Order: sequence, then structure tokens, then C-alpha cells
Amino acid sequence: MSGFFVVFEGGDGVGKTTQIDRLATHLRAAGRDITVTREPGGTDLGVELRQAIMHGGHVAPRAEALLYAADRAHHIATKVRPALEAGGVVIQDRYIDSSVVYQGGARGLGDEVERISRWATEDLVPHLTVVLDMEPHAERLDRDLDRVERETAEHQHLIRQAFLDRAALEPARYAVIDAARSIDEVAADVTAAVAESMAAAGLPPVPAEPVGLEPWGTP
Ligand code: TMP
Repeated sequence: MSGFFVVFEGGDGVGKTTQIDRLATHLRAAGRDITVTREPGGTDLGVELRQAIMHGGHVAPRAEALLYAADRAHHIATKVRPALEAGGVVIQDRYIDSSVVYQGGARGLGDEVERISRWATEDLVPHLTVVLDMEPHAERLDRDLDRVERETAEHQHLIRQAFLDRAALEPARYAVIDAARSIDEVAADVTAAVAESMAAAGLPPVPAEPVGLEPWGTP
């Protein structure tokens, strides 16, 4: 596979969407072919599965875990693998770690959750997983919450620690980035981590993110 697969993970409200947009813009400007996608909901079927998951009423935890896995199986097979095989860069919002942390940990379903996702994806492992790390703040979560966010809000400290524990197991494949800083500072660290991981994968170099420059290039 000639492409590059980078995933963003972290608790709710840590700024994944903003940083994904920044990275995509930066890499596009550098001439790379970029696919930005998400789980759940990165395909047409995935949008329907996401609605089923976010369903207002109770969803049995094992059913919920299987809906995430179904979304993932279809998404990886029909969108992510083809983009990687074509040599593109795939930037993805959430992946298997979210299932391990939320369903396996916060919902108490344990280790089988990871095995189900590995089967669903035929063991597709990202080149790099960026964990945006931040102390959970009640006010950050005090917005319109969907069912999943509402039900997992009380576990945010546990969720944060579970992402850090996953990253500690495989430091070469994870970048833990302090997300409690300015967007520019976080973006600079994200770009540096991606550049290092792309170089390790034998891909051409990526320029550094311009930090703190005014639009016209004056400091
Ligand atoms: P999002 O708002 O970041 O797209 O994520 C939606 C919610 O789904 C978020 O609270 C995390 C949760 N989630 C899981 O519980 N398991 C998963 O496998 C994924 C991908 C997301």
C-alpha cells in the first residue's frame, strides 16, 4: 500500500475537526492527494449507521459496538483502502481506538471489541495515530450533546486516560499532542509528527506548518 493513513483520536471536544482541517489544508497546499473522512459516518451507508447509533433511545451496548464495527468495515473496504492503494493520504477522525476506549472501556465490553474491529478492517493499522490530549472541562461538554456524548460525558477522565494508555503501548505509532494550547501551536506539532511518520514510511518530505505568521508573511 503506497498511501499514508493518519487517524485523530481523543475525547469529545478536544478540537479534532479543527486540526484535521488544518492538516488537510497544509498537505493539499504541499500537493498531496488528501481524503478527509470520519467514523462513524464516512460513507453513505455510514451516515445511516451513524443515525442508527445516535438514535435518541437506548441502544444495547453490544448492538452499538456492532454498529460501529459495521460502519468501519464498510468504510475501510470501500473508501479508505482504495484511497490508500491509489497512493493518497487519508486523514480520519476516529478509528479502532475509539471503539476500544468507548465500547471496551467506558461501556465495559472488554477486549473482544478490538478483535471485532480488527476482523472488520482486515487488520488495517494506521501509520500514525494522533491523540489530541486535554483535561476534560465540564463547560466544553456543556453544549448540545448527542446520545453517545451524553451517556459517556461522566467517563471523560477515564476516556482520556484510556487513550493515553493505548498510546503508551506503541509510542512509535502514536503522537500524543497537548491540545490545551493555541490552534497554531497544536497544528505545528501535528504537522511535525505527520512529517516524521511520513518520512519513516519512505514518503517525500512535508514542509513545516507556518506558525505565527500574518497572512502577508510579516511576523
Ligand atoms: P464524533 O462526534 O467525534 O464524530 O464521535 C461521535 C461519538 O461516537 C463520540 O462520542 C465517540 C463515539 N464513538 C464510539 O463510542 N465508538 C467508536 O468506535 C467511534 C468511532 C466513535
